[in-house]
Amino acid sequence: MKDVVEKAVKKAIGRNDVLVEFTENENFGDFSTNIALHLGGSPKEEAEKLVDILKKSPELTKIVSKIEVAGPGFINFRLSKEALLENLEEILKVKESFGASDIGKRKTTIVEYSSPNIAKHFAIGHLRSTIIGKALFNMYGFLGYKTIGENHLGDWGTQFGTLLYQINSQHLTVDKLTLDELQDLYVDFHEKAEINPELWDEARTWFKKLEGGDEEARHIWRSLVEKSMVEFERIYNILGVNIENAHGESFYEGIMPSVIEDIRKRKLSKKSLGAEIVEFKDLPPAMLIKSDGTTTYYTRDLAALAYRIKTWDPALIIYEVGSDQILHFRQVFETAKFLGWSEGREFVHIAHGLIRFEHGKMSTRKGQSIKLEEVLDEAIKRARQIIEKSETGRGLAEDEKGKVAKAVGIGAVKYFDLMHHPQTDIVFDWNKVFVLEGNSAPYLQYTVARTNSVLAKAQKSFEFRISNFEFNSEELGVLRSLARFGDVIITAAKNYSPNLLTNYLFDLAQKFNAFYNSNRIIGSDSEALRLRLTSATGQVLKNGLTLLGIETPERM
Ligand code: ARG
Repeated sequence: MKDVVEKAVKKAIGRNDVLVEFTENENFGDFSTNIALHLGGSPKEEAEKLVDILKKSPELTKIVSKIEVAGPGFINFRLSKEALLENLEEILKVKESFGASDIGKRKTTIVEYSSPNIAKHFAIGHLRSTIIGKALFNMYGFLGYKTIGENHLGDWGTQFGTLLYQINSQHLTVDKLTLDELQDLYVDFHEKAEINPELWDEARTWFKKLEGGDEEARHIWRSLVEKSMVEFERIYNILGVNIENAHGESFYEGIMPSVIEDIRKRKLSKKSLGAEIVEFKDLPPAMLIKSDGTTTYYTRDLAALAYRIKTWDPALIIYEVGSDQILHFRQVFETAKFLGWSEGREFVHIAHGLIRFEHGKMSTRKGQSIKLEEVLDEAIKRARQIIEKSETGRGLAEDEKGKVAKAVGIGAVKYFDLMHHPQTDIVFDWNKVFVLEGNSAPYLQYTVARTNSVLAKAQKSFEFRISNFEFNSEELGVLRSLARFGDVIITAAKNYSPNLLTNYLFDLAQKFNAFYNSNRIIGSDSEALRLRLTSATGQVLKNGLTLLGIETPERM
């Protein structure tokens, strides 16, 4: 609906740079624009002139009952009761597709996310990428974009040289090694190399062998990949995440030569101390080929980008990767521009912040990384305790209890991540993750379950038509909030900010609970309206949580 208002204002002033915003304070209507402050002349007079024109707009008067000037020249719009009710009926009619749109039609968006590293644990750091990436993937799909999900597995590079060296020099059998032991070997290497830096030469030699196709190196490497994939799949299962494409960095081996050639042809690279680098105006140089002839993370990202452009011709590529790689992606995007790859396309690096536990950054280097699986298990355990405390929860059959505990536990962890702007660092705090009367997944899931239980008790009367068109303030609060959902998804997706959606859902749930706590629903004069409000709220919360990758149990 915001788009209808925006369009009408744009048409009225013949300009495209119009911003219409939601108003927080109900007294100012539903939408507001400050455009009159930017038209030159007296803002108040400009606003009044504009309001006169807008009042004649048929599209606008269809949904807006009041347009007025406020303050120094703001224009406020109030949605009509009819529009609010029509929106309510729309929710009940289209159900799970309410909020969807086709603004992305005929455009392809690639979301690259998760991207853990082979032979290392799926650390909690990759959790953010998986959760935020999945939410963005879902939102873009809901907006009509053709979406491609990519998992850019870290399966290549010098770190494999370190493992190959360790396994070989200690005569270990790779098939018998567990991921924990591999992690230890990795840590052990770094400790030894600190005292004896020449060990790095050994690691580089092994990586060179690997890249050169050495049979023994490739055999060990394949075994490492298989082992890791088993663990990753287990975690994706717990998280309920399925990424359609998984290409390791090694996949781009065959594409790198042509990319390197392309770069050389355009004279973008130069020799430097035996290596080959690409220089930029405002960035430090990137290493295309190391002095020992091996490729780099940067080279492989260029090849991956070439592949993606050729395969999917995307309008947008979202890289859901941590903020420690900001420089890397600037270099990759800048190189793509040099190569003429960015014409008509946008590349975005989300650069999410860190998750901290009390002991600081998650790191595999120092060997004290927190294992994701432990965190997820703990979350499910805590969710179970919560369920046991609720009367409905206690009454559930054992296997349903297990499913609900998983939905609530995993949902809580996901939501806690998503409710923060991706770029902020977050401190993981179990009390906040599970806060039952605050901004959390369990709170929203409870609210959905509450709407289900009201509707179950109401049975047939839900079918009755609305006869009372006077809304009290709690009803109005819910109706207004319900009218915002579609616009919120667009804004959240365009700003790569799932937190805007969580904020919205929390607000809607609060409005609904305020309504629920002070109004009788079943058996009241406004029963039909109130049941519809209840049903629509449950639907919108469900739609929103589903986009965020969070399940909504029927009862809990
Ligand atoms: N595997 C990398 C890491 O864990 C992340 C990959 C990011 N994506 C990319 N296209 N470079 O650090």
